[in-house]
Amino acid sequence: MRIIIEPDYEAISRKAAQIVADRIRKKPDIVLGLATGSTPLGMYQELIRMHKEESLDFSKVVTFNLDEYWGLPSSHPQSYHYFMWNNLFSHVNITSERVHIPSGTVNDVEAYCSWYEDKIKKAGGIDLQILGIGRDGHIGFNEPGSSLGSRTRMKTLTPETVEDNARFFENKDEVPKFAITMGGGSIMEAKECLLLASGKNKAETVQRCIEGPICAECTSSILQLHPKVIAILDEEASQKLRRKEYYKYVEKMALKFKKS
Ligand code: F6R
Repeated sequence: MRIIIEPDYEAISRKAAQIVADRIRKKPDIVLGLATGSTPLGMYQELIRMHKEESLDFSKVVTFNLDEYWGLPSSHPQSYHYFMWNNLFSHVNITSERVHIPSGTVNDVEAYCSWYEDKIKKAGGIDLQILGIGRDGHIGFNEPGSSLGSRTRMKTLTPETVEDNARFFENKDEVPKFAITMGGGSIMEAKECLLLASGKNKAETVQRCIEGPICAECTSSILQLHPKVIAILDEEASQKLRRKEYYKYVEKMALKFKKS
């Protein structure tokens, strides 16, 4: 895993956007896996800026989102549909037929989830998967105890996740208790993953994800088995990494190597 440590949230957002933009320029019809939540917001803002000021072209890009709350219609201001259109898609030149976000209102969840997986396969698989990390170690909504080989399905959210997400809702009782999420197995099929984390409340989880044992108790730890992951962390999120200085040294050496 490549670990990039930046001073703060603004810097991780810029770095992540540079990587995404680089991959889009190299492969204009790239298939992106996208995440919601607070963490990627700065990166989306920077990508919008790059679209407007540097002609970053989204016209051939295809996207698949990781998850959606169960029970929220796409018009609900807290749905991930709403989030993605509001924070990215409406501001760049992507068309709705290239955008895929799991539905939170289908009747036959099982059939829908296998249709979603199939759609990803038919698109050629995800080239670059953006990931945030939950305090309980989740990626997507793969809560502790999720099978590390799981596929897209319905998950019950932990009380911790419900509490964390309550900040977006007027009333805690409104926070959905279930979500449809891509599984650990689905995420691992992405050709490359970009994991973002910011803030000291993520520091312990980030340490478990990157340096802890690979286990269902911290589902993001499965990324240790992925051949191509870049983790972009700010100083606060990286403060509990045991080998933090070594990771910084590796990046410094890599820069020297590239220059020579
Ligand atoms: C959202 C998602 C979640 C979030 C995680 C962190 O699509 O997949 O795993 O990335 O809950 O959320 P924030 O960024 O709000 O701390």
